[in-house]
This record gives sequence, C-alpha cells and structure tokens, in this order.
Amino acid sequence: MSLETTFFFQDHSHDFIQFLNQKKYSKIFLLADSHTNGFCLPLLKQLIPEFCYSCLIVIPAGEAHKNIDVCQLIWNALLLQKADKHSVLVNVGGGMVSDIGAFAASTYKRGIDFVNIPTTLLAMVDASFGGKNGIDFDDTKNAIGSFTNPSAVYFNTHFLKTLPNSVLRSGIAEILKHSLLDSIGALDETLDLDINDFFQARSYRKSIAFKSAIVQIDPHDEGIRQSLNLGHSIGHALESFMLYAPKPLLHGEAVLLGLIYELMISHLIFQLPIEIVQKVIAFKDRIFADLKCPFDYIDIEKFIGNDKKNRGEIRMSLLEAPGTGRWQVPVSVQQLKTAITETKQFLAK
Ligand code: GLY
Repeated sequence: MSLETTFFFQDHSHDFIQFLNQKKYSKIFLLADSHTNGFCLPLLKQLIPEFCYSCLIVIPAGEAHKNIDVCQLIWNALLLQKADKHSVLVNVGGGMVSDIGAFAASTYKRGIDFVNIPTTLLAMVDASFGGKNGIDFDDTKNAIGSFTNPSAVYFNTHFLKTLPNSVLRSGIAEILKHSLLDSIGALDETLDLDINDFFQARSYRKSIAFKSAIVQIDPHDEGIRQSLNLGHSIGHALESFMLYAPKPLLHGEAVLLGLIYELMISHLIFQLPIEIVQKVIAFKDRIFADLKCPFDYIDIEKFIGNDKKNRGEIRMSLLEAPGTGRWQVPVSVQQLKTAITETKQFLAK
C-alpha cells in the first residue's frame, strides 16, 4: 500500500505505463461503474494498452450504490479472481467509484495498491487524491472509511468528452472554491475564465496543485484541510433538501450555491468584502445561468446541524478574505437566516 501518490497527466501517458510495468503487479483489476464501463473503458484501453489484459469489475453507477453491499461485491470479485497482496485495483470513474474502490482496496487483505483514473472534472480536482475514501452507512455519508493514498492518479481530459454538459461543468465549483482559498489573484483569474477554459490543463492543474499543498500540510483533516469544506455545509444541506425534487441538484451545483451563501455569512462575520459575493454571483449567472434553487432556512434546518463535522452545533468553514480560510467557525441560527435573506435579494437582482 502506498504512502505517496504519483500524478500522471495526459501528456505523460507513457510514464504512467512505465510506472505500471515497474510495479510488476501480479494482476490488474479495473473497477468501473455502469457508465464508465461503456463510455470510458474503450478509450482507456486505447490510451493504456496494458489494461486490455485486466480483470473487470463493474458496479452500478450513482451515489446511492456507495454502500456495503456494493463494497462486498467488489471484495467477492477480488477473491473469486484470486487477487493477492501484489494486485492493483484501478478505479475508473467519478468520486463514487474512487471512494468505494479505494475503500475496498485499502481493506482487502489488509490493503492492496490502488490507482485512480478520474473521469469527471469534479473527481479530477478533488475526490481522486488526498486519501479520503469510504462508503455511506446507515443514512450517513462516508460513515465508514479511512485515509489511504492511491499509488497513482492518471488525469486525462479526453474522458470528460463522454459527459453530459451539466455533469461536465459540475466540477467548476470546486475549482472556484480552491481559487477563493488560494488568493485574490487566483480568484480573479478563475472568475474571468470561459466555460471551456476550465477543461484546459492550466486551470485544473492549478486547482490540483492547490489542494495537494493543503493535503500535504494536513493529511488527516485536523486543521487547515477543513478549510476545503467551504461551501459544503450549505451545499450538502441543499443537496439533501433537493434529493427527491423532480430535478435534484448535482453535487457541484449545490456547492456553487453553498459557496455563495457561505460567502455572505463570511461577509456578516468577517466583513469579507461584499464585492466578492457579488462577483461570484455574477460568475454563477454567466456559467450556471439556469441554476436556481429558491429555499428558506426552514427547508435546510434539519440538514444543516446534521453535518458530521459540527458535533450538533452549527460550525462552518468560511472565508475571512481571499486566500484566508477559517474553519470550525460557530454560526448562529440568526446569522444563517440573515445571510439567506440577504443572499436571496442579491440573487434575484
Ligand atoms: N474534499 C475535501 C478534502 O479532500 O479534504
């Protein structure tokens, strides 16, 4: 099992092949979901011919399947096909596949190597590295899991071409979040980008470098890494609130809205300049013009205090200024209600 992760970008596919060869894995297992099996594996096998000879494990797509039953399916397949300590599991997909695949690999025979190949922008800039893995259990997201690093991550934007537009742009919110936490320069640069610029190496590689630097400082999420939860307290609450709506919110859409509301709370608590909130709203109107989610405090009340990081009270990761994140900030119900009302006025303009 790996302590360090090696990153390979699409212009260095050959190095990735060499890495796999040098590892002399006894068997390579590919884990795909029902989407990536059809859309991404044919392309992957063209790019990395070594994968033509691997054993395939396919799981159902969707966050609802990130559970112990599907994990058991992966363990069974590994056992049945005689995976040993020197085998590797290659997770091909979005965050759901890398979360469950990494968890299954890190527990199988006390841990075998795994490699992540993210196929969504969201997974490229966030879930595919940093060591967090897990499954949902008993209605709690990521209730069971561990910190275990992939041996390698292989990034290739060609996979993104297989995605519907809404899923494609969903990763933009995480890139925006990273630039808010990085610096005013990074933020202004991101806010100026056109939608297609986000899929270019320069933009997503900067985002990956930013998150990697934070993870290096705080691999176990005990301090500064929690700043990466910016936008996620309200984002997760909105995602849960909308779960059974005719058009549920995608994770990235919920995080974008969560960012806007949490920047307004940051304005109320830390005097974050209101111009930052306005600029991010203008960005949302340009890139996510169709994204609307009218809600009141009462709609998210039962989800907001429910965050596992909050220990029963409302604590959030906020932004004191661009480049200065704060975490575990107590937020009163009144502050939250005021921020929701004020943000709705700005959003309506
Ligand atoms: N997604 C935030 C983290 O990896 O800590």
